[in-house]
Amino acid sequence: MSKFAELTLDGKTYQLPVIVGTEGEHAIDITKLRDMTGYITLDTGYKNTGSTTSAVTFLDGEQGILHYRGYPIEQLAEKSTFLEVAYLLIHGELPTKEQFEVFERGIRRRTLVNEDMRKIFDGFPVNAHPMGVMAALASALATFYPGAIDPNLDPDAINLRIARLIAKMPTLAAWAYKNSNGHPVNYPQNKFNYIENFLYMMFSLPVEEYTPDPVVVDALDKLLILHADHEQNCSASTVRLVGSSQVSLYSAVSGGISSLWGPLHGGANQEVLEMLEAIHQDGGNVDKFIEKAKDKNSGFRLMGFGHRVYKNFDPRAKIIKVACDNVLNKLGVNDPLLEIAKKLEERALNDPYFVEKKLYPNVDFYSGIIYKAIGIPTNMFTVMFALGRLPGWIAQWLEMRTDKQPIGRPRQIYTGHTKRDYVPMEQR
Ligand code: CMC
Repeated sequence: MSKFAELTLDGKTYQLPVIVGTEGEHAIDITKLRDMTGYITLDTGYKNTGSTTSAVTFLDGEQGILHYRGYPIEQLAEKSTFLEVAYLLIHGELPTKEQFEVFERGIRRRTLVNEDMRKIFDGFPVNAHPMGVMAALASALATFYPGAIDPNLDPDAINLRIARLIAKMPTLAAWAYKNSNGHPVNYPQNKFNYIENFLYMMFSLPVEEYTPDPVVVDALDKLLILHADHEQNCSASTVRLVGSSQVSLYSAVSGGISSLWGPLHGGANQEVLEMLEAIHQDGGNVDKFIEKAKDKNSGFRLMGFGHRVYKNFDPRAKIIKVACDNVLNKLGVNDPLLEIAKKLEERALNDPYFVEKKLYPNVDFYSGIIYKAIGIPTNMFTVMFALGRLPGWIAQWLEMRTDKQPIGRPRQIYTGHTKRDYVPMEQR
């Protein structure tokens, strides 16, 4: 039986349909509210607003549950690979062996980037932040592959654009890094798999024989899986909003990269490491930084702590914490920052401020320590997040398109001046 919510306004009662998701989430459908009542809803930061229905990712913030297409993140992180997860997110089902081979091959043979695109790198300053470079180059892909601009592409044509994007992002990321060091770039070698190729382009010198370390490959593969999607977060919502104007996939993803860069979103992983380094250099006094984070006037937050949705624990952080210990052990790395991070976590989890506000370590808290251990420089951390999040952005974009969702265009409540007459400059 259909359920309704009743709303009484100005003496009149309206019935609003209740929508229930497959995992029992409830929403009041207000799509007809303005037509019916003349009112809109106000919800800055969309804390209570479902912007879409979606079958891609389910998460329950109270219980710390995260599923991609129904599969628990713990199982995928342990048993799957990043490209298989990418297929799952984009196409909705785990691939058969044959489907995966076609998908993987389609990506492997498109890793090369147009030489003219490489010249764009010369225009960036040497110390350009790689996230700025990535956002610009993702957008530039639409100029090198103008076919992507067509809003009426058929599924095969869309799959080709998707394969190009997934294939070229690691090349662009590694080149952004090489460029920031003033080093010549490495061209992709397609004898390597997706993760190995990225590591080769990042770390190999042009003439040396490169053998990827399986511990590093596994760690990176797992990290990318953990970042692959997170339903309607800031960057995914950005990709949907930008994409809703029917601009190309590349432009929509460029918007997602820019959104991810901010310190409250993906940029937090860089900030966490810088914070841990600052604590270390300050003598390792964890309590001092805890107190600072609690002081609203300090403007300082414990980076890697807190989450808009998770109010119990972040399941990704749990997996990463264990992975962090494993990777550092296997690589024989003894990083004092890991000890500081663990101490910080322990203190915060026992401090009433963090307990009452339900602030727990998030995905970014330990990821930076692994990135550092496998040699990824700090300013590339958020780029790693972007590489991981790419299939999620694509899946969200595709779903928006397939569901024929309308252009995103929120309303507002105007609070500025009411009408007033223009005054010439000399009379002001
Ligand atoms: N350190 C200290 N206090 C905090 C923190 C923190 N990291 N996070 C939230 N608070 C306090 C905040 O001051 C507020 O206090 P009050 O209610 O007294 O005003 C309360 O907790 C709620 O915070 P909020 O900012 O209203 O919550 P939000 O849902 O708008 O923000 C957040 C979520 C992730 C932006 C925030 O917790 C934060 O800034 N964390 C640090 C940055 C970070 O780690 N970001 C990565 C998020 S996970 C990766 C991703 O998916 O992007």
